[in-house]
Amino acid sequence: MGRLIAISNRTAADASARAGGLAVAVWESLRSTGGIWFGWSGNIVEDEVGEPQVFSDEGVEFVTTDFTEAEHDGFYLQYANRVIWPVFHYRVDLAHFSSKDFDVYADVNERIAELVAPRLKEGDSVWVHDYHFLLMGDFLRRSGWTGPIGFFLHIPFPSPEVFRALPEHERIARAMCEFSVLGFQSKTDRSNFVRYLLENYDAVDEGEGWIGVFGRRIRANAYPIGIDAKGFAEAATSPRAGTAATRIGRFLGGRNLVLGVDRMDYSKGLPQRFEAVGKLFDHFPSTRGRVSVTQIAPPSRSKVEEYRDLRTQLDGLAGRINGDYGDLDWIPLRYLARSYDRRELAGLYRIARVCLVTPLRDGMNLVAKEFVMAQDPDDPGVLVLSEFAGAAEQLTDALIVNPHDTYKVAETIYHALEMTLEERQARWEKLRDIVMAQDIEWWRHKFLDDLSTDLT
Ligand code: UDP
Ligand code: G6P
Repeated sequence: MGRLIAISNRTAADASARAGGLAVAVWESLRSTGGIWFGWSGNIVEDEVGEPQVFSDEGVEFVTTDFTEAEHDGFYLQYANRVIWPVFHYRVDLAHFSSKDFDVYADVNERIAELVAPRLKEGDSVWVHDYHFLLMGDFLRRSGWTGPIGFFLHIPFPSPEVFRALPEHERIARAMCEFSVLGFQSKTDRSNFVRYLLENYDAVDEGEGWIGVFGRRIRANAYPIGIDAKGFAEAATSPRAGTAATRIGRFLGGRNLVLGVDRMDYSKGLPQRFEAVGKLFDHFPSTRGRVSVTQIAPPSRSKVEEYRDLRTQLDGLAGRINGDYGDLDWIPLRYLARSYDRRELAGLYRIARVCLVTPLRDGMNLVAKEFVMAQDPDDPGVLVLSEFAGAAEQLTDALIVNPHDTYKVAETIYHALEMTLEERQARWEKLRDIVMAQDIEWWRHKFLDDLSTDLT
């Protein structure tokens, strides 16, 4: 295979991207193939962007560009994060539709395509990532590129009725069909996309992932993203992990740790989770004083109003629970609005008795897989997982919950805390097998194999 050219808004060169699934996954893929990674530098300039920054790290060449204030606002803060993100996470109620912002979104897609196109060579494979660049296939084709272009959506693809709420849905769908291979996190996402094409256009499902539509043949499949499973298991026994585990161990004083790790995002279901924690202490009094819930929630997109509102809501809920249930020697819910290094997280996962992954919607959720790989085989913890996370299609041996049913979540946490060692081990072994088998290498191969046999 020729060179791999990745395009995503965030790249691993930007430190603030590290607490997010995309940068972690693409970095782990590109590091093993080598290639070029195009994206945003993370810098904002007043009104004129200069030449792109070009540098290399571990065999990967980075080409990054600044955004103007207008681009950062219209493209990133508004259209990507206040239109596409909420709609694709089934929150049409939070969307702020604006054709002006869509124009900026399209302009940024075009500008990045113009940065990439002259650097492409025959034999290259282009791999575009995530909802920031849904129009990239169209602009790369317009620039004359006829080679393979893959696209992977890291977030959910909503049901057709919800997707159609986007005023620009047809323009976006037509542009998406310029990609050669479209990758989704789950079968549900893939079938939502295909259903949209079948219901609205003269599309034909030709089987084995092939779709005939708009006079083209494309491939749309589910490629559930994985993690560097072996590497993560090693990280969980590293000195850095050990130090983090010791530090939290001092605070726990022998209590059971129930852990949550999520970017502070309304898709993660944190208010509902906090409510479930309150119900746990309320309805299962034996947990009082014996369990410590720790929620790590690095603030995300804090220039967007809905994210600031969430922060205020969580501050209030956490204070309320601690006020209601806390005691002189016990803080029921510790809520830490900051990010931790992944090796430190690995140490925390390892000593947690229960991990709560209860998003209202999530493309995949890498935290669920990381938690599994960090466990001690002799004394593994229990994963409580939302049925609305992509990971639930694979991790069927977790305790699967509906995050809206907060009493049931509380009861499930209690059940997880009471689970016998035998059952914990049996469940964990099955989870580990699947996370190991369908790891990041598996994902990369599965996607790139399809891209290289592109017959369009
Ligand atoms: N993460 C991190 N530090 C933190 C919180 C999260 O490094 O303080 C990492 C976490 O280990 C995982 C990623 O960020 O690899 C989050 O990915 P996930 O798919 O769970 O959710 P996303 O943020 O992409 O919605
Ligand atoms: C999710 C998205 C990524 C995004 C990350 C962090 O993982 O799928 O595309 O990079 O969140 O969000 P941010 O807005 O900080 O890039």
